[in-house]
Amino acid sequence: MSKTMKNIDSFTHVRGESIFVDDLITRQDTLIGLVFDSPKAHGKIKEVNYSKAEKVKGVVKIFTYKDILGVNQIGEILPDEPLWAENEVHYWGQPIAFIVAESEAIAKKARLLIEIEIEELPVITTAIKAKEKKSFISAPIYFKLGDTAATFSNCDHVTEGETFSNGQEHLYLETQGCYAVPQENGSIKITSSTQGPAQVQKAAARVLGVAMHKIEVDVIRLGGGFGGKEDQATAWAVMAAVAVQYLNKPIKYILNRYDDLRMTGKRHPYSSFFKIGLNKDLKIMAFEAEFLQNSGAAADLSPAIAERTLFHATNSYFIPNVSTVVYSCKTNLPPNTAFRGFGGPQGMFVIESAIAKMAEEMGIDKRKIQEANLLAENDEFSYGQIATKVEAQSTWFSAKEKFEFGKLEKEIFSFNRKNAHFKKGISLMPITFGISFTNTMMNHARALVHIYQDGSVGVSTGAVEMGQGVNTKMLQVAQITLGISANKVKLETTNTTRVANTSPSAASVTADLNGKAVDMACVALIERLRKVAAKMASVDESTIFFKEDYVFVNGEKSEFTWETIVAQAMVERIVLSENAHYATPIVHFDKIKGKGHPFAYHVYGTAITAVTLDCVRGTYEIDFVKIVHDFGKSMNIGIDIGQVEGALVQGIGWMTTEEIAYSSDGRLLSNALSTYKVPDIFSAPKTVEIIPAAVEGNKMAIRKSKAVGEPPLMYGIGAYFAIQQAVKAFNKNYKLKFDSPFTPGKVLTGLYEKN
Ligand code: MTE
Ligand code: HPA
Ligand code: MOS
Repeated sequence: MSKTMKNIDSFTHVRGESIFVDDLITRQDTLIGLVFDSPKAHGKIKEVNYSKAEKVKGVVKIFTYKDILGVNQIGEILPDEPLWAENEVHYWGQPIAFIVAESEAIAKKARLLIEIEIEELPVITTAIKAKEKKSFISAPIYFKLGDTAATFSNCDHVTEGETFSNGQEHLYLETQGCYAVPQENGSIKITSSTQGPAQVQKAAARVLGVAMHKIEVDVIRLGGGFGGKEDQATAWAVMAAVAVQYLNKPIKYILNRYDDLRMTGKRHPYSSFFKIGLNKDLKIMAFEAEFLQNSGAAADLSPAIAERTLFHATNSYFIPNVSTVVYSCKTNLPPNTAFRGFGGPQGMFVIESAIAKMAEEMGIDKRKIQEANLLAENDEFSYGQIATKVEAQSTWFSAKEKFEFGKLEKEIFSFNRKNAHFKKGISLMPITFGISFTNTMMNHARALVHIYQDGSVGVSTGAVEMGQGVNTKMLQVAQITLGISANKVKLETTNTTRVANTSPSAASVTADLNGKAVDMACVALIERLRKVAAKMASVDESTIFFKEDYVFVNGEKSEFTWETIVAQAMVERIVLSENAHYATPIVHFDKIKGKGHPFAYHVYGTAITAVTLDCVRGTYEIDFVKIVHDFGKSMNIGIDIGQVEGALVQGIGWMTTEEIAYSSDGRLLSNALSTYKVPDIFSAPKTVEIIPAAVEGNKMAIRKSKAVGEPPLMYGIGAYFAIQQAVKAFNKNYKLKFDSPFTPGKVLTGLYEKN
C-alpha cells in the first residue's frame, strides 16, 4: 500500500471555497429559469393558459416545445423523451414549459399562475401492472447458459419465489443545475452539473438545431452524482440553452430540492420471480429469474441497466444452468435512471433471496449454500465470459478467518440465548462486479497534457470529479509518470473543447479509462524530454530516468532539474503538449447472442454484517460491517476506503430505511427528507473495518488499482439478510420475505407474525 495522497479538493472543500455551478460569478444581465411541470401522471393536454403568468412583472418569456428550432428530443438510447411535453404527459413532474424571469421569486410566482387542463388517462405505477398491460420500453433481454428446464427435474431441492426491491433517491448534496452564457456568433457555453458533458453538448446541439461546435460544456465538479447526473443533468442544460439561443442573455437554473425530487428519476424498483435448484451437495445446478424493471415513462438508460441486472444475476456464484430475462416496463413515473451499481444490485438481491429461501426450506444456514457455490478460476458466467484471477473464494475465506467469523457467530448465539427482547443477526455477503461499460463502444477516453515552459503541468481529461477523487488519481498518474512533485500538476475543468466525445463518468471506470490516457500522454512527453536530457548530459538515452523533479542517469541523481530540461526543450522547439487516446482492449459483447467478454476484469469482496434488533419496537442498529475488499494495488487507499464506506452506507440505506413512495395516481409521496429516511450517523454501522485483499492487482486497471466506485454498494445487501436472521431468532414462525427496504415497520410485523 503506497502512502496516501490527500484528495486535492479537501483544502477548498473544508474552507467552503470549492466552486460548484451555483457559486459561479454570473453576468449582471443573467436571467433565472424555472420548469413548469405536469401536475398529473398521465393525460392529454387540453389547454395551457400562460397569459396570467406572462403578465407578471419581471417574467421575460415562457418557453414551450413550440420555441424549439431543432428537434424536441433528448432521449439518448431511444428517441422517446421530449424536452418539453407536447400533447400528452406521461409522468407527474414532466417538464411542460420553462419560465425565464428576472428572479427566482418572480418565476415561482408566475408558475403558480399557469392554468392547465388535462384529460386524465389511466396511470400505471408498478412494473407488474405494466407487464399485464404489455406496456414496455423495449424488447426483453435474455441470457442463457446450459439448460435449466432439463436440469430442474434432476435437482434434489427446488424452490421458487418472488422479490421486490424499491427505488432509491440519489440525494446528491448539490441539486441539478446549469449556467448557460451566450458567446460570439451563436455559440453557447454551458456550465453544467453533469457526469456526461459530451451528452449535454450533443443533446443541446440537436434541440437547438446547431452544430456541436457551437456548444461548449464545462464541468468544474459535482456535489455528488451517483448516476443521477449521467443522463438526467441534460434536460436542464438544454432548456437553458434554448432560452439563451432566443434571448441572447445568460440563463441560470438550479433546481430546488422539492423540484429535483419530484421531477427526476431514481434507482429502478424491480419485481422479480426466481426458481432455484440444488443437488444434495448444495451445488446450485439451475437458476431462473424473470426481472420486471419499473423503467418509468421513457427509456433513459433503462435498457442498459436492465442488461447489467442480467450480468450480475448470479453474483459471486458459479451456476452451470442459467436462464434469465428482464423486461423494461413502461410506467407513469419519472424515467428511472442510473444509480450506483446500475441494475447490478437489483440482480444480486434476487439470487441472495433465492439462496435464503432455499436455506430456510432446507433448515440450514444460508452461508452453507453460498460457500458451496463461490466462483472459481475458469468458471463461465452466464454471458460467456470466463472468470480469471477470481477472488470470490479468497475474500470469503479470508473474511471468515481474519475477522474470526466462528467467534462472532458464537457471541451472537449466546447473546440471543440471554436476551428475550433484543436479538442479533449476522450475514455474509460476497460481491462480484464487472468493470467496463457494458456497451463496448463507450470504453474509451482521452487526455490532453500540457507542460508549460516553467515546468508546471496542466492535465485535461474527460473525467468528471463528483467527490469520488478521480482528479486526485489523475494527478497521481501524471506526477508519477513524469517523475515530478504533485504541486507541479494542476487538474483542469472537464471541458468539451479540450477533450471531446467523451463517455460519461460512470460505470466505475473513469479513473481506469482517463488514467490510462493520462499515462500514455505523459509517457509520450517523457520520451521527448529524455532525448533532450541525454543530449544535455552527453549520455545515452537509455540511461535517463525522470524522478523527484530531477534527471537521473544510470540511477544516479544528476545536476539537471526538470525545469532545465523543459526550458531546453522549448529552445529546441519540441512539442510540450500531448493528446492521448485509450480504448479498452479485449472487451466485446454480442447483444443478440447475449455472449462475449464484456468486462476488462471483475472486482470481488466479502462483507460480514451484524445487527441488533429491538424486538419491542422493530428498530435495528447495524453493529458492524467487516469487509475484505479487492482493491487491486490501490493507488490511493484513503480515497478508496472512503468509496467503500460511502457505497456501503448507501447500500444499507437502500435495503433498510429509504422508502420511495408514489400514490396510485403517480404523485411522489416521499417528496422531502421528512418522509424519506436516508441513513444518518445513528443508522450507519457503528463500526466498519475494511481489509484490502491480498491480490496481485490487474493490468487492465490504472496502475493495477482496481475500480472501486460502485461494487461496495452491494455489501449493503448483507444488512437485509442479517436483519431477517434476527427476526427469525425472535419469531420461529417468521417466514422470510424479500421485500426491500426492510423498514422498522415491516420488521415489527414480521416479529409478531403468526403462521
Ligand atoms: N462517490 C462520490 N463521492 N460521489 C459520487 O457521485 N458516484 C458513484 C461512485 N462514487 C459517486 C461516488 C458512481 S455511481 C460511480 S459510477 C463512480 O463513483 C464514478 O466514478 P469513478 O468511475 O471514478 O469510480
Ligand atoms: N454502467 C454505467 N453507466 C452506463 C453503462 C454501464 O455499464 N452503460 C452505459 N452507461
Ligand atoms: Mo454510476 S451509476 O455508473 O454513474
